[in-house]
Amino acid sequence: MRLVLLGAPGVGKGTQADQLSARFGRPKISTGDILREAVRNETTLGLEAKACMDEGKLVPDSIVVGIVRDKLGEPACARGFLLDGFPRTVPQAEELGRMLEGRGSRLDRVVNVMVPREEVVKRLTGRRSCPKCQAVFHVDFAPPARAGSCDRCGAALVQRTDDKRETVEARLKVYEEQTAPLIHYYRQKALLSDVDGSGRVEDVQRRLVEVLEAHRLT
Ligand code: AP5
Repeated sequence: MRLVLLGAPGVGKGTQADQLSARFGRPKISTGDILREAVRNETTLGLEAKACMDEGKLVPDSIVVGIVRDKLGEPACARGFLLDGFPRTVPQAEELGRMLEGRGSRLDRVVNVMVPREEVVKRLTGRRSCPKCQAVFHVDFAPPARAGSCDRCGAALVQRTDDKRETVEARLKVYEEQTAPLIHYYRQKALLSDVDGSGRVEDVQRRLVEVLEAHRLT
């Protein structure tokens, strides 16, 4: 299972990738999570990425490509992986193709998760994350048992700096300009499946699993 989850910010790629990863035992590679960890740890990479992320812009291709190359080289990825948030530009997609080819491998499927824009804005502006264990909640759609506290570890939940309304708008614009062209890119390669990302998390998961089963990837 060598899978890419494609879609605008907030369509639920991370939520779905976590569930697929647990269900099928394949590692999730989230460039957003890796970059946020680097920012928290104030590494050179984190310091370089922070300004772009806070403004809702993409981090340079060279940085994210390096991150993914390192991850794909780990033994855990030998039997497959779920890419969440990568590739995000056509040059990243081309580089991914070359990386896999160099390993005698290729992508099996790219799933394009689609959610109406107004729903995505609600999901992003209401998202709350745990700064300690990285669990993700939503004030309305996936509220924690005790308002403001993480169900898993009890830490105080925070809003991601890039989930503020104006940054969300900037991220959606960047998506349209730089990432949406990947839909055409992968459709032309006959690798793309569209999945409706609206409705309950479990319904979206079921639709995703149906696509994987239809392509004999489970
Ligand atoms: P990244 O972390 O990848 O952000 P993103 O793509 O904008 O995606 P999100 O994490 O915002 O949303 P998601 O689709 O995973 O939704 P989630 O499941 O959390 O990237 C952040 C930044 O890092 C970028 O802006 C860029 O600067 C940089 N970056 C990362 N990768 C890069 C790359 N390849 N190249 C260059 N730069 C890169 O769900 C959202 C909310 O909705 C949650 O609260 C969740 O609980 C809720 N929710 C989920 N599903 C449902 C549902 N079915 N119904 C109701 N609520 C739901």
